[in-house]
Amino acid sequence: MKVNKLQLTFSSLPENVTIARMVASALGAQLDLPINELEELKVAVSEAVSNAIMHGYANKPNYFVTVDFEVTASKIKIQVSDQGCGIPDIKQAMQASFSTDPERMGLGFIFMQSFMDELRVESEVNKGTKVTMVKNINPQSPSSH
Ligand SMILES: Nc1ncnc2c1ncn2[C@@H]1O[C@H](COP(=O)(O)OP(=O)(O)OP(=O)(O)O)[C@@H](O)[C@H]1O
Ligand SMILES: [Mg+2]
Repeated sequence: MKVNKLQLTFSSLPENVTIARMVASALGAQLDLPINELEELKVAVSEAVSNAIMHGYANKPNYFVTVDFEVTASKIKIQVSDQGCGIPDIKQAMQASFSTDPERMGLGFIFMQSFMDELRVESEVNKGTKVTMVKNINPQSPSSH
């Protein structure tokens, strides 16, 4: 089985959210993901990377975020890692409308959960956070080509 792995490491700058999102988009397009699922994939990646920059590193620019992509014909796995502040209570953080920032909606994890087929969050305070997301690729019907 063919596996395509990519690793992207970038500074914790908000403009890099777009870069991560574009790579996800290109990979999804190669797999012929339907346009709505492609959009969902892009949102999920954007949310995870934004969280790493904004919460993990409190918007400080001199840190690094890593995104690992692993693509096969049947799924696309994406891991977003930071070595930032970590999440003290993961269950609480993943609840709808929970945010440590009063200006925010607290919906990032909800989007990731609903747009991807699997979501796993691992985190340790003062060590960092790793978000793993999987999207299953449905086999294309011959008529769609
Ligand atoms: N990488 C991370 N490092 C540290 N804390 C995080 C990280 N990701 C999420 N969190 C914590 O989990 C909370 C919930 O995240 P979520 O993305 O659901 O909402 P939000 O980022 O606060 O708001 P929104 O995504 O709607 O703008 C955040 O407010 C933050 O406290
Ligand atoms: Mg968020």
